[in-house]
Amino acid sequence: MRSEWKDTRTFFPLFIEHLNQDPTIETVVVVGAADGKFVLPLLRAGYSVTAIEVNNSAVHGYGDTRKGKAAERYSGGGLTAAAREVGLQDKLTIVNADVRTADIFPRDALWTSCSWHYSLNHDQPLSRFFDAMKRCVRPGGILGAEYFMPVAPKHVETEHYLEQGEVWRYLQGWRRNWEAYTPVFVEAPHLGQPDVHVHRMGFFIATSSG
Ligand SMILES: C[S@@+](CC[C@H](N)C(=O)[O-])C[C@H]1O[C@@H](n2cnc3c(N)ncnc32)[C@H](O)[C@@H]1O
Repeated sequence: MRSEWKDTRTFFPLFIEHLNQDPTIETVVVVGAADGKFVLPLLRAGYSVTAIEVNNSAVHGYGDTRKGKAAERYSGGGLTAAAREVGLQDKLTIVNADVRTADIFPRDALWTSCSWHYSLNHDQPLSRFFDAMKRCVRPGGILGAEYFMPVAPKHVETEHYLEQGEVWRYLQGWRRNWEAYTPVFVEAPHLGQPDVHVHRMGFFIATSSG
């Protein structure tokens, strides 16, 4: 697919492999779904997906003229067009909203990739974002995330860039299935970052104790 994020590094293959081993998982929420880089593989693998995305342009594509909360403007047709192109729109529910205020029926699993560090989330404690994600997962369900770690002095000023191990403060009582941290690495250009740049990323999969 033609995602604006197609070249960025990801732990997503480990997450979907984990899901595929659990026959009770049928429904997945993607928080910060953007234009569908992770939504489409989940749909293709047979899951029903609820995609939550605050940016109107990511959802409706370049034709969207409403003012979005996020500044990134997409050049393609967005998530709705991507799902239609592969004929899987019937298994996709799109929630064009801020996850922190969205009203979501709990699903079997949740995935998010580099979403909570966005500046729009800095107006509230990071716990609000985690509380919202936890509400999206049923008892015994799975939450997987990859996220930015600090690489610049400005990142240290906000709690939304977590250092190694800090994520578990927000997931007390959850079972740790997987945990990994990268060193600083060179990331490919993507929306909002036209040049190569550096990232550092954390990743986990956890199960709700319910
Ligand atoms: C780095 S992008 C995700 C791109 C993803 N890596 C991919 O490849 O599709 C993170 C997304 O999270 C969305 N996001 C950030 N905060 C959000 C919030 N509070 N509610 C919903 N979406 C949010 C952003 O608008 C952005 O599209």
